[in-house]
Amino acid sequence: MYKYERAVALSRSKINVDKQKTEPKPFLTDIKTLRERARKNIAGGGVTFTYHGDVKKTIEILQSVLATEIVCVLRYTMHAVAAQGISSEWVKAEFAQHAKEETEHMNQVAERINQLGGKPDFNPTGLATRAASEYGTADNLVEMIKENLIAERIAVDHYRELIRYFGEDDPGTRTMLQHILVVEEEHANDMHDLLVAHQGRPMLP
Ligand SMILES: [Fe+2]
Ligand SMILES: [Fe+2]
Repeated sequence: MYKYERAVALSRSKINVDKQKTEPKPFLTDIKTLRERARKNIAGGGVTFTYHGDVKKTIEILQSVLATEIVCVLRYTMHAVAAQGISSEWVKAEFAQHAKEETEHMNQVAERINQLGGKPDFNPTGLATRAASEYGTADNLVEMIKENLIAERIAVDHYRELIRYFGEDDPGTRTMLQHILVVEEEHANDMHDLLVAHQGRPMLP
């Protein structure tokens, strides 16, 4: 039995080595061609020959991400002002910190749309329907925390999917979303901890 397993492992490692030998390396463009291409179509800015995404579709997706971030800025800002009750001060400070970070995301996404040749859509008309997250209706501290936790969980799921969608076609947009995702995961965790602190038990099993 042992001999058999060893033989299988050996043959598997041989297959891997053979595969490495036969698989072609990724293609690298020579410097002369790179320079020539960069000089052509300079109106494209950062969208160059090697951009494999669909620029129009990317801008459309990012307008929805922008709306999501704007709604998050508005919700956290409102909560930071409106939160009331015992021990609300440090919760308000947390909401205000999140509002600041959502503003940074909003600006990063708007910049990216601009880089791709689009015009960031800050129009308040239709904002709520363009966004994945919701503005909310909470009127007490615990409800506010819950709303924010749900909104963060929506953002986390949405951005994870988008990161997979962009993959290698648009590494610039993907990397930006990866950085934002890490912060959204922290936000979700912060809201979950606040909820535990105020309710004495986790909402999630
Ligand atoms: Fe955000
Ligand atoms: Fe967030």
